[in-house]
Amino acid sequence: MKGIILAGGAGSRLYPLTQVASKQLQPVYDKPMVYYPLTVLIASGIREFCLISTPQDLPRFEQLLGDGSQWGISIEYRKQPDPGGIAQALIIAESFIGADPVTLILGDNLFFGGDAFPRAIAGFKSGAVIFAYHVNDPERYGVIEFDAKGNAVSLEEKPEQPRSNYAVPGVYLYDNDVVAIARGLQPSQRGELEITDVNKEYLRRGTLQVQRLSRGTAWLDAGTSSSLHEASAYVQTIEKRQGMKLGCPEEAALYRGFLTLDQFEALVSGMPACEYRDYLAELAAEVKRVGLKSA
Ligand code: DAU
Repeated sequence: MKGIILAGGAGSRLYPLTQVASKQLQPVYDKPMVYYPLTVLIASGIREFCLISTPQDLPRFEQLLGDGSQWGISIEYRKQPDPGGIAQALIIAESFIGADPVTLILGDNLFFGGDAFPRAIAGFKSGAVIFAYHVNDPERYGVIEFDAKGNAVSLEEKPEQPRSNYAVPGVYLYDNDVVAIARGLQPSQRGELEITDVNKEYLRRGTLQVQRLSRGTAWLDAGTSSSLHEASAYVQTIEKRQGMKLGCPEEAALYRGFLTLDQFEALVSGMPACEYRDYLAELAAEVKRVGLKSA
C-alpha cells in the first residue's frame, strides 16, 4: 500500500497566515500540521509516500520532510499547479502509484485515537474503503446515507439537506482501478474533480466498503483560525495529560520497526536542544528499560 498526502489548495480561509506558509505547514500546537496525517499513515505501516502541493509551497515541504529516509520511509513530491480537486491527486500521482493500491489522506485532516486506519490498511484487499464519522454539521462534508441494515446507499458532496449526520473524513483506501476512475471524471459545478465522485463510482460497482469510526476516534478539522486553535488546544491537553506526543513521525517509525533504536537515537542526537528532542530521548531510554509498547 502506498500513501498520498494532499497538501495543496489556496488556504484562503487562513489568510494572512497562509501568505508565507501553506495551511498544512501551520503549527498544530508543537508540530507542523502535516506531521499528523503523515504519522497516521506511518503508524498504519505505509512506507512509500507522495506529497502533493502547490509549486510555491512544495520546496518548503521538501525542506521539512526531506526524502523521508531519516524515518525509514521514502517521500516523493509532485506539483498541483491549480486546485483542480482532491481526485486530481490520483492522476498527478499515477506514476508513483504504479500497480499498487493507495491510501489518500488530506493534509489538513487530524485524527487521534482508535486503530481503524491500521486495521483497514492491513486488511485491505480490493475496491475502496472509506470511513464515516458522526458530526454536527454534515452539510460541510461529503455525506453518506445508510439503510436500515447499515449498508451505504448514497453519497453526496456538501448537500444542503444532508440525509444523515455521517460525514466522510479525508482518508480513502483504493485499489489500482482508482487511477482510471479518476481519469474518467468530469469536473463538478465548482470546477473540481470530486473525491466523492470517485467514491460514488465504487458504490455503483458494489465495491465500496464504509467503516464507521467509533466515538473513541477524534477527527478534527483545522481549516479556519478558530478550528486551528481548537486543534492545537486539543493536542496540548492530551500531550500534557499523558506525557506522550501525538503526530510524532519519529515515534511511529520506531514503533513500526522502520527505524532501529540505534538509528532513532542517532536521529535524536542530531536535533537541536528542545522539548521535542527531550521527549524522543526519554522515549529511547524508556524503550531500553521496558521495550517497545504499542503506539
Ligand atoms: O475533510 C473532509 C472533506 O474534504 C470531505 O468530507 C469532502 O467530501 C471533501 O470534498 C473535502 O471537502 P473540503 O471542502 O473540506 O475540501 P477542501 O477543498 O477544503 O480540500 C481539502 C484539503 O485538500 C485542503 O487542505 C486543500 C487540499 N486540496 C484541495 C483541493 C480541492 C488540494 O491540495 N488540492 C485541491 O485541488
